[in-house]
Parts: sequence; structure tokens; C-alpha cells
Amino acid sequence: MLADTVSVRPLSPTCGLEVEGLDLRQIGESEMTWLRSAVADNGVVAVRGQDLSPEQHIAFARQWGEIDYNRFFPINELYPEIALVQKEENQKVNIGGGWHTDHSYDVEPAMGSILLARELPPSGGDTLFASMYAAYDSLSDGLKATLETMRAVHTADHIYGHDGAYAKTDIASIFRGHDEHTLAVHPVIITHPTSGRKALYVNPSFTTRFDGWTREESLPLLQYLYAQAIAQDNVCTLQWKPGSIAIWDNRASWHFAKNDYHGHRRVMHRITIAGCALS
Ligand code: SIN
Repeated sequence: MLADTVSVRPLSPTCGLEVEGLDLRQIGESEMTWLRSAVADNGVVAVRGQDLSPEQHIAFARQWGEIDYNRFFPINELYPEIALVQKEENQKVNIGGGWHTDHSYDVEPAMGSILLARELPPSGGDTLFASMYAAYDSLSDGLKATLETMRAVHTADHIYGHDGAYAKTDIASIFRGHDEHTLAVHPVIITHPTSGRKALYVNPSFTTRFDGWTREESLPLLQYLYAQAIAQDNVCTLQWKPGSIAIWDNRASWHFAKNDYHGHRRVMHRITIAGCALS
């Protein structure tokens, strides 16, 4: 339940809500209950105008569950709970500049992430989100039935490993965990643990193939699913403002950090919340 002073606006027909008038430093239990369902149902909720210290960001995150410490991103030295999603004026590559859902390479993938804007470029640097409920709903009954029987393999080795995608870029040196190996197999269609809705659970960054299929066999169908997932009316754009915070559900949405602000700094603080095995 929300007070009359709180306003809520959809970011797109299928994905995302924008909320004004909440103070996450002193949020009550009924507002948290509303926020939990809003995030699970809409994939992402952006709350505007927050003024959170790192300690308050961590305290808010703990209300969602255990913190999932990122093994690859740079971390805030004083607050290891906080991963730094940061791009400097002189860097060309950004973190998260491809469609993905966080930590799908883990056997128990992260439930969600809480991203706080600390320093923004004068323009650009938006984050796109897509609903994985809508992606599933857009498929034919025949394809849904086939996918229900399938599982897919996820890893991050080709992204963060010694020869991974970031190793060849100008932000290679900021990453850690090059020797970590990740491998998880998840259902292609999941039932969301809290909303109970069906969602597509493969993503272009971390899903490498269908279980029991070669990569070559898997790619055409994966690419079809990816194209469905980001059909235009299924994507919302979050335009960051100072003090904006986004809370997203990794089982219900994908996200993509736009990299269109070269020559400017962008600093975001991300805390990721632990999740559970998916079925
Ligand atoms: C991420 O993938 O977590 C980064 C999103 C962003 O920087 O907008």
C-alpha cells in the first residue's frame, strides 16, 4: 500500500515502473510489500530522488535478502557489498553493454540488483530493460511447449576469463576473477518464484547453447528468441537522473547499459541480491 503522495507511472506497456515520492531510507513494511510485488511483476522499478549513503544503500538492499558479492566487477574498497559499474572519460567500453540478466551463470542465479546513480554523463547512459514474461507470452503455443522441455547452459567464462570478451578491451584491467569458472544449466522457461508467471530464461551474454545441443545447432533458435525478447514494444528505457535508483528482477527482465556518452564519466553503485535455483 502506498501513500497518496507517491506517484507511479509505467515505463512501457510490458515492462518497468517509475515511482516518485518514496524515501527508501525509511521505507515501511507495507511499502516494501508493494515494492517486492511491483518489481516481480514489472521486471524493474525506478525510484526517483533518493539520497542514500553507501550504508543506507546496503541497508535497503538487505531488506530484499542476502547480498550476492560480485566476483568479477571492481568493488568499492570500503563496502565490498557494492560493485562499481563505472566508465571513465577516456574509456570506450562500458560494463553491461549487451543484453543480459545478472549472474545467470550461477546455479542459484541472483534474484535482482539495486543500481544507484552516483555520477551521470550530461546526456545518454540510459539503461534498457525487456520483460521476459512478455517474451514468453509472444511465442506460439507450439514453441512454448517445446521450450518447456528444454534446458540451457550458461557460463561467464567467455566474458570474464583470461581470453574473454573484456580481456580485449580498454577496461580489461578493472575486472577480477579471471580464474573463476562458472557453469549452470537452467530451464529455458521458468516459473517465476514469486509471481508464478512463466518467463523466458536465456540471454545473449551468458547462455551458450541448449543442453544436449551443439552451439551451432542452438544459435538459430536462440537468436529467434532473442529477437522476440527485444521486440520494440517490449523494451523500456530508463533515463537516469541524479538520485535515481533501479531495482530489477533478473528472472523477469533483461537489461542493457547504453554506451553513448564517450568522453564523460558515469558511476553507478550496484548491489546484487542472492536468488534461488530456478524451475
Ligand atoms: C549492469 O549491467 O548492471 C549495468 C547497468 C547500467 O550500468 O546501466
